[in-house]
Amino acid sequence: MSLPKIDPTSTNAWKELRAHFQLLEKAHMKDLFAQDPERAEKFNLQWEDFYLDFSKNRLTEETFSLLLQLAKEVKLEQAINSYFSGEKINETENRAVLHTALRAKESDKIYVNGKNVVPEIFQVKAQIETFTNQIINGSKKGITGKTFTDVVNIGVGGSDLGPSMVVGALEFYKNHLNTHFVSNIDGDHVNSVIENLNPETTLFIVVSKTFSTQETLSNATTIKEWFLSKNLGTTEEAISKHFVAVSTNIEKAKSFGIKETNIFPIWNWVGGRFSLWSAVGLSISLSIGFENFNKLLLGANKMDTHFKSQPLDKNIPVVLALISIWYNNFFKTETQAVIPYSQYLLRFSTYLQQSCMESNGKSVDRNGNAVTYQTGSVIWGQPGTNSQHAFFQLFHQGTKLIPADFIGFVESLSGNKTHQDKLISNFIAQTEALLNGKTKEEVLKELEKKNLSSEEIKSILPYKVFKGNKPSNTIFINKLTPESLGKLIALYEHKIFVQGIIWNIFSYDQFGVELGKQLAGNILEKMKKNSIANHDASTLKLLRYYKNIT
Ligand code: F6P
Repeated sequence: MSLPKIDPTSTNAWKELRAHFQLLEKAHMKDLFAQDPERAEKFNLQWEDFYLDFSKNRLTEETFSLLLQLAKEVKLEQAINSYFSGEKINETENRAVLHTALRAKESDKIYVNGKNVVPEIFQVKAQIETFTNQIINGSKKGITGKTFTDVVNIGVGGSDLGPSMVVGALEFYKNHLNTHFVSNIDGDHVNSVIENLNPETTLFIVVSKTFSTQETLSNATTIKEWFLSKNLGTTEEAISKHFVAVSTNIEKAKSFGIKETNIFPIWNWVGGRFSLWSAVGLSISLSIGFENFNKLLLGANKMDTHFKSQPLDKNIPVVLALISIWYNNFFKTETQAVIPYSQYLLRFSTYLQQSCMESNGKSVDRNGNAVTYQTGSVIWGQPGTNSQHAFFQLFHQGTKLIPADFIGFVESLSGNKTHQDKLISNFIAQTEALLNGKTKEEVLKELEKKNLSSEEIKSILPYKVFKGNKPSNTIFINKLTPESLGKLIALYEHKIFVQGIIWNIFSYDQFGVELGKQLAGNILEKMKKNSIANHDASTLKLLRYYKNIT
């Protein structure tokens, strides 16, 4: 069965939401809280070690019930079934979307083209486990007999962002291995990484689903040449001891020189941006050990079960997705901020940028028609409290409405309670400030306590007023662990899915990234041949400028 293909704007719920929006557009959340003392009780969800407070949003019980009705009218529940059961919901590429199978239980049965894929997933997991243990315990050594100290993941996009985000996020759990990431085609990136490495003790993982990505192949080639220039042994032996690959394209990986037993397979039903749960996450497993890697998978699996089994109104990914639709399509917000209050989650929003924006940055619906409404939001953010000292000014007093997810952890990893109390008071205070703001009267009272003239008070007062009414979700998690991180990532994966279903778009292709790649290839060829005709005037001038200087 294919995905439902319902234009959301044709539903009754959408029409009712439009009318309802007129009533709510100007409402202040402060008044909504005042009118309903039970509001915080009504708009929260508690699940395992997660607490979601979504009461600080510009919605009422009626909004929520209309959004749930919208989900029903577009047949979300049917779509969730199709997603988990391996149907080819990535219709434009004729593929299933089964990153959820990567964290399934061994006893599960998930079919692709009539074949249960769970046994081969577990086979590769066993391969990851054995390899991880051998590298960590030192039984697998480099060409000169030394144990490994460093791991370099060579990949880009989904073959880089997921692993690098998770390795950073779980740094607290890391072992003696130091993990590095080379992704950019910018030669300065690869150079800056290799210049500090000892080739005798470094393991390289070439990660590319297709094994045809320019960045990854160029970086892998540069690294291979640098490595072989050290003359540590015969080419074949040196490569076989220091290079492994993760790919669907075994032949191409082999022709790059990687030994077949050093290739970890993945499958075309795993999208690059959702692949960290597969062997693409090998660098994660090496960094924190296979047991912890498995806990990450377990967490994601728990979120999968929550998502597919909970009713829509108690379902965290569904609720967050519906709230995002409310802002994106009715308040016409353009962006959505994600602010983790953990320095370990430094790369979380960067990771989400690919998973959300590559998935839902689409403008043709599942019927092949141009959409008549907004789809994917611009995702951005940085950890608090640093971001408070950077862009929060615009949140609080700017002209834009930016819904934000605040993610915090009750317990710190360092155990430093003094810092943690300060961190969490900031975490909570910011959403409070965004909600309430500060009225003219409140500012006036404050200013009157200072030794200021009435003229001075009058002139400064307007600048000190905060309107408030800025929406936020708070996701409070007990502790940052491999398992809770797995849940959190899976939460956003499912939120993306729900948004895509409602927007009636195909979330799992990424044709939009192809044109730039094609044109770069074309320009590179012309540069080599020194013939740079047939471009628009601006492109021509840029090319000439570069050529004249180099
Ligand atoms: O840039 C597009 C893209 O195809 C991403 O979707 C993908 O994650 C990335 O390139 C890397 O692709 P590969 O793993 O095949 O090298």
